[in-house]
This record gives sequence, structure tokens and C-alpha cells, in this order.
Amino acid sequence: MTAAIIDGKAFAAKVRAQVAAHVAKLTADSGIVPGLAVVLVGEDPASQVYVRSKGKQTVEAGMASFEHKLPAETPEVELLALVRRLNADPAVHGILVQLPLPAHINADLVINAIDPAKDVDGFHISNVGLLGTGQKAMVPCTPLGCLMLLRDRLGKLAGLDAVVIGRSNIVGKPMAQLLLADSCTVTIAHSRTRDLPGLCRRADIVIAAVGRPEMVTGDWIKPGATVIDVGINRIERDGKEKLVGDVDFASAVQVAGAITPVPGGVGPMTIACLLANTLTACCRANGLPEPAGLTA
Ligand code: GUN
Repeated sequence: MTAAIIDGKAFAAKVRAQVAAHVAKLTADSGIVPGLAVVLVGEDPASQVYVRSKGKQTVEAGMASFEHKLPAETPEVELLALVRRLNADPAVHGILVQLPLPAHINADLVINAIDPAKDVDGFHISNVGLLGTGQKAMVPCTPLGCLMLLRDRLGKLAGLDAVVIGRSNIVGKPMAQLLLADSCTVTIAHSRTRDLPGLCRRADIVIAAVGRPEMVTGDWIKPGATVIDVGINRIERDGKEKLVGDVDFASAVQVAGAITPVPGGVGPMTIACLLANTLTACCRANGLPEPAGLTA
């Protein structure tokens, strides 16, 4: 039997609709318009596409979008000054500085200059600490999207064995914290892990976030397991450019119980969760109840 395909595109559309409905009511009741500021430094083509998409979807959800595009050679002090201005701007409820930043800028310094209450990426050390200690935090968007898909598919996750492949601050580590908070038994695997295939074969949930095209093959998957593929890799096959994940979909789909495709799986969930986080930040800033089902 082949796996159920987890339709992240459709799920993300539902999340965006929920956010838009909540924003419409918030604005009608109180006149408040949630605002998201996105800062892009430089001309990285992939980042430009993401930022455009974020701006478009923010406006479609009824929120205000503030885009700040700075040249690649912008000095670090100037970027920090912009972050401080956005921190102080009452129309801005969420701030996202697109990564990667140019090499001459210390990304940690910039991220930690963002007001934690406006840190819709959940990358500020305060939010990392809050998440790790089970307190109310802003949660990184991609892992939050994965969690929503898993809960939708599996219901309660308590007691399940989960393997997270990848230990990045953006996905791997926060993903592990979220699964732990949902009472999974969590293993974080990485490039130095011994017998990664054997480890994955024992897992009920496999999250692949390593950035290696089609590394996880069907023979690594326990029959019936749920496979979440965070990878977005551009490869060339048969002379054509193709987007593939970190999972070899063709073999994994034969074994898994459910699997996310690439594209159309986790990808669309990231921006949907960014919108959800912006709304959550806006509600918290105004002492209003948070939207149900859109936070961890
Ligand atoms: N670059 C790639 N993914 C992300 C993300 O989730 N947030 C930010 N700020 N930059 C990114």
C-alpha cells in the first residue's frame, strides 16, 4: 500500500483563511490592523522570491506589510538602527529579517536586537529559551507548520518515537523541542550520527531537514511511519531543473503511512505560520485573546 499524501498546500490555505477571518474580525471590532515588517539585505534571488511571497500573502490576509530592502553593503549599525525603529513602531507587530545576511553582518546580533514580542521567526534567544522551558514563546514558522501537519494527521503525538534529521536553529532544534513538548521520544540526528538508517527505521515520525537531496530512502522508513520532508533542493535531472526534498519520495511513498511531497508539503506552511505568528503577536501586544489552533 502506498502512503497518504499530506497536502500542505491545502492545509496552508486553510490556516491562511483562519488568519484572515480573525484579522477581519479584529479590525472590524477594534480598528487594529496587524502589521508585519520584512527586512531584506542584498539581492539573493531565492530570498527575493520568499520576501515577495510573504508581502503578497500578508496583504491577502488583511494585514499591513512593510518591506525594507537594503543594499548588500549596508553597514551592520544601519540594520540595527532599522530594527530599533521597527521595535518602536506601534503599527509593526511582527519583524522578520530574512536570512542569510551578508557575511559582514553578525546575524545573531541582529536577531537578538529584535523585540522578542515582535520576533515572529522565534529566533531571538528569549524565545528559544521560552520554548525550551515550556513557556509561551514565539515559535519558528517551519517547525510550527510541521507540528500542525503532524497533529492533523496523527492526533495526539504522546509516546511516539520521532527522529529529527538536522540540528539547525531554524528547523531541527525547535522541531525537537516542539515534539518533546507534545511528549514524543525525540532523537536529533546529524552528519556525525552513527547508523542513521537504523535509527530512522525505529521511528514513528521522521522529520528530514538536512538539505541533502533525496537522502532518506524508503528502506530507512518503518512501514506506516509519518514522513515530513522539510528539504527544498534544486537539482538537475534529465537536463531539467527539478525541486526535490531530503526524502527520496518515490521509494518512501511505498513504505510510509503518510508523507509530505516537495513541492506542496511543508513549504506553503511556513508563510501561513508566519501570518499566524504575526496575528498572535498583535493579539498579545493588545492584551486580546489569541486565535485558537494557530499556536503551539
Ligand atoms: N531564510 C530561510 N528560512 C527563513 C526563515 O524561516 N526566516 C528567516 N528570517 N529567514 C529565512
